[in-house]
Amino acid sequence: MKNLKISVLAAALAFGALAPATGAELPVYKDPAAAPAARAADLLGRMTTEEKLGQLQQLDGLWDTGAYREEFPKLAREGRLGSTLNVRTAPHANALQKEAVENSRLGVPVLFAFDVIHGYRTIFPVPLAESAQWDPALAERAAAAAAEEAYAVGLKWTFAPMVDIARDPRWGRIVEGSGEDAYLGSKLAAARVRGFQGADFAAPGRLMACAKHWAGYGAAEAGRDYNSTDISPSALRNVYFPPFKAAVDAGAATFMTAFNDLNGVPSTAHKANIAGVLRGEWGFKGFVVSDYTSVKELIAHGLAADDEDAAVKALSAGVDMEMVSTLYRDKGPAALAAGRLRAADLDASALRVLEMKFRAGIFEHPYIDPALEAKTLLTPEKLRLALDAALKSLVLLKNEGALLPLDPGSRKVAVIGKLADSREDMLGSWAADGKPADAVTLLEGIKAVVSPGTRVVYSSGCYTGDASEKELKAAVSAAAGADVIIVAVGESALMSGEAASRVSLALPGRQRELLERLKKTGRPVVAVLFNGRPLELGWLDANIPAILEAWQPGTRGGLAVAQALFGLANPGGKLPVTFPRSVGQVPIYYAHRATGRPTSLTEKYSSRYIDSSSTPLYPFGYGLSYSSFTFSNLLVSPASIKPDGKALVSVDVKNVSARAGDEVAQLYIRDPAGSETRPLRELKGFERVTLAPGESRTLRFELTPAELGWHYAGGFAVEPGTFKVYVGSSSAAGLEVSFEVLP
Ligand code: BGC
Repeated sequence: MKNLKISVLAAALAFGALAPATGAELPVYKDPAAAPAARAADLLGRMTTEEKLGQLQQLDGLWDTGAYREEFPKLAREGRLGSTLNVRTAPHANALQKEAVENSRLGVPVLFAFDVIHGYRTIFPVPLAESAQWDPALAERAAAAAAEEAYAVGLKWTFAPMVDIARDPRWGRIVEGSGEDAYLGSKLAAARVRGFQGADFAAPGRLMACAKHWAGYGAAEAGRDYNSTDISPSALRNVYFPPFKAAVDAGAATFMTAFNDLNGVPSTAHKANIAGVLRGEWGFKGFVVSDYTSVKELIAHGLAADDEDAAVKALSAGVDMEMVSTLYRDKGPAALAAGRLRAADLDASALRVLEMKFRAGIFEHPYIDPALEAKTLLTPEKLRLALDAALKSLVLLKNEGALLPLDPGSRKVAVIGKLADSREDMLGSWAADGKPADAVTLLEGIKAVVSPGTRVVYSSGCYTGDASEKELKAAVSAAAGADVIIVAVGESALMSGEAASRVSLALPGRQRELLERLKKTGRPVVAVLFNGRPLELGWLDANIPAILEAWQPGTRGGLAVAQALFGLANPGGKLPVTFPRSVGQVPIYYAHRATGRPTSLTEKYSSRYIDSSSTPLYPFGYGLSYSSFTFSNLLVSPASIKPDGKALVSVDVKNVSARAGDEVAQLYIRDPAGSETRPLRELKGFERVTLAPGESRTLRFELTPAELGWHYAGGFAVEPGTFKVYVGSSSAAGLEVSFEVLP
């Protein structure tokens, strides 16, 4: 602590914060009162080529310990380490920072980054589950709590939010995003940026956000991770871009390019997107980082001939910082000397990085107080937020005969399935420094909520791989005579996320067989799903009376699920992504276009399958509750507007049951005729409300050009004609009204 205080003082002196009045002129870059842009320009003017390139280099520390690599201190002293990923905790971060701030020529601090995706130590539900909350304000609070914890261990930058729209559940990274919809995804993108950054990301407890992966990564062909993408201009503008635009508008400090090839140009060299759309059209002022070695991968893609070519192509396209590979650093000087790399491009990138470092406040506050970690991590408030977040992300998929909620006074409850007793699987993919030991399992949660007299019997049955006959039999005998059998099935945490694509969406291993055997006992069966992607649940839907989608619900996940199962809470989440009947329907999403031969059950020559229904098993926006709700009085006014006008929509939603609960009112529009075809339905408004028994509320939505418009080939416009408006509890149900847009 003593050493740190001395270091802080030295740094403050070095940067003029406490500069003695010597009369000597303070360099602009050391003047905290000067504007970040002016400070960056002044500093850049003092740098050598090597130092500029050094600011563009991000290197990877040791993920498991947070330590830095042996060569980092020297690089920091030479001013050749702009940023690290994975280096964290006060001892590691402060020691490395000291080299950069106190022992380098210009004293430029290192920017410490980490993947803080859904929590740092207190782990919230995986992003796809947070999306199922349909509650951006709650996602914002979770991001803010994550930022506070991450900041406390020396971090100032997170590689989040991941805002890739994903319509293919085979792609494992669907778990990291907000699902299939551009509108919901945009609301969550903005909320998460606000949550991480707050009003000013220089403030203590705040991080710079990073919208990733720019662009189109979620459309990996066949759902295979890192695969190429081929996306039409209309789909880019109307589906894949909007959440990124929302992140820019919310003030996201940085962007990360993607691994994928997009229409023949790898994203990490995609000048049209980076310089053109992001900076040119949208006015993005932050900096752009590559993904992990994606600069080097330009060679494997077949775009760059060699290392130098890759460096030149990425940097010239506007990728400012290189993550992990070192081609800018190693090949930049020769490329500059030969005129293949423009000095102006290098300067522009270095300037952007430096300006964000000034804006982040790390010149004035380069160190982290080692005492902060213990005070900040896993606080009771954060754990309460994690419980609330997990509760709100639960989606009730089926509840035949109102089997749920269960009676906490039941005599015997059988809990089956290894996933019910697995801490690490509660945390999900990208769980940062979340510790399995902190997590509550479903089994523990159930024991905590049932009556003291209830006998809870557990048997592991099977996990996600093979299981022995003995294990399956033991599960069936454990279930004998139970009032209810609660079976945990789904995926392990590692089955989704990066590099976790699947060709099958079936329940893995012998889970289905286990369910069949348990069903044969004749006792009521409740299936709880832990998974990071939509799964094929047709058999479950046909055979199991109650199904609760719990996703990977985080540190307090098991408790949340138990509270919902036993009626201490009421599920109210809705699917942020369509659940297909079978993988053969993929890609399947609600916002598809009509076709000239819409699906018909009776017409052979209609758009359909001969061996399956065309409809999803559970549509986008679907989810039940223990309460029942009705929608009525859907009104729109005025009856006609101009293209730049605004229509107001109102609807009454009522809880017609005897139990308080949440409903998510969802507003969809359709523009049935125009110069280009548009989707059958487009989500353009939603609100999650909690209603007491019998309570009714009038909800109001505004439809402005932002909601009504479409990116046509000629640009964004609201075209005259009829607009239909649907409001209801999912993308399938709903009341309908219409209004006119006059020419
Ligand atoms: C992922 C990024 C992540 C980065 C750093 C890459 O493999 O694609 O999403 O931020 O690693 O960990």
